[in-house]
Amino acid sequence: MTISGKAKLAGVIGWPVGHSRSPLLHNHWLARYGIDGAYVPLPVAPADLELAIQALPRLGFAGANLTIPHKEKALALVDRATPRAWRIGAVNTLVVEPDGAVAGDSTDGLGFLANLAQERPGWSAKAGPAVVLGAGGAAAAVAFALLDEGAPEIRIVNRSRDKAEALAERLGDTARVIDWSERDRALEGAALLVNATSLGMSGQPALDLALDRLDPRALVTDIVYAPLVTDLLRAAQERGNPIVDGLGMLIHQARPGFAAWFGLTPEADAETRRVVLGS
Ligand SMILES: NC(=O)c1ccc[n+]([C@@H]2O[C@H](COP(=O)([O-])OP(=O)(O)OC[C@H]3O[C@@H](n4cnc5c(N)ncnc54)[C@H](OP(=O)(O)O)[C@@H]3O)[C@@H](O)[C@H]2O)c1
Repeated sequence: MTISGKAKLAGVIGWPVGHSRSPLLHNHWLARYGIDGAYVPLPVAPADLELAIQALPRLGFAGANLTIPHKEKALALVDRATPRAWRIGAVNTLVVEPDGAVAGDSTDGLGFLANLAQERPGWSAKAGPAVVLGAGGAAAAVAFALLDEGAPEIRIVNRSRDKAEALAERLGDTARVIDWSERDRALEGAALLVNATSLGMSGQPALDLALDRLDPRALVTDIVYAPLVTDLLRAAQERGNPIVDGLGMLIHQARPGFAAWFGLTPEADAETRRVVLGS
C-alpha cells in the first residue's frame, strides 16, 4: 500500500470504534486498486462530534463514515445532506466538497437492497409484505428502501411501540405497526423478514422469535453480521427458508463513500467478503 504525502484520507468516526470493520474493508480496496490513500479509525466522543466533523476539511480529509452512536446527531451538524438522509433521519457517509462544505448521505438502504440483489438475483420487494424488526436508524433505512422498491406492506415491529409508530407515520400508508409482543404472529403471510435490531449480535441479547408462522418461501435476512450466521438465519435455514447475511450490506453501503473519496467504485466480491470476515 502506498501512503505518500499526497495520500487521500478518510476514516470512520464512532464511539467506540474499535469494533468497526470499515478500516479493513476500505484499506483492502485501497491496496487492491493501488490507490495512494488511507482509511483510519477515528474514536470521537459524542461531545466532540461537531468539532470532529468541522475538522475534516481542515485536516484535508476527503470524508468519513459515521457509526454508532453518531449517525442521527450528525444529520444536524453537516453543511448539507441528501434528501434520502433527511428522510431516514441519519447520515453514515460524509463527503468534503470542493468548497470545503461537509455533505452527508445515508447509504445503508442502498447497501441493504444491493446485498439482496447480489445474493438473491430476481428477488423483488413487490413479492409481498415485509416484516421489519426494529425502528432505529438501520430499520428506517431498510424500511424506506423497501418502500421505494414497491413493497406492498411494511410491518414495523419494535420493542418501543412509540418509535415504531413514529417510523410508520413517516413511511405512510404502506406501513403497519405490530406490537413487539405479537412478533411471532406478524410473520403470517410475509414474503420478507428483516432483523434490523441489534438482537442476536455478539454480546447482545438473543432474538426470541418463533418462525412457525413464516412461509417457508419467505426470504430471511439479518443486518447483524457478527456472527455472520445469526441464530435467526440458522433457524430459518433449518426450516428451508432462503437466507441472506448482513455482511454484504456493510460492503455495499461502503461503495458510494469510497467512490466519492478515492475516485472509483470498488468491487463487492468474494475476496472482499473474506477480507472483512478476517478469514
Ligand atoms: N449490515 C450493516 O451494514 C449494518 C448497517 C447498520 C446497522 N447495522 C446493525 O444493525 C443493528 C441496529 O443498528 P441501529 O443503528 O439501527 O441501532 P439503533 O438505532 O440503536 O436501534 C437498535 C434497535 O434494536 C432494538 N433493540 C435493542 N435492544 C433490544 C432488546 N433487548 N429487545 C428488543 N429490541 C431491542 C431497539 O429497540 P428500541 O427502539 O425499543 O430500543 C431498536 O429498534 C446494529 O446491530 C448494527 O450493528 C448493520
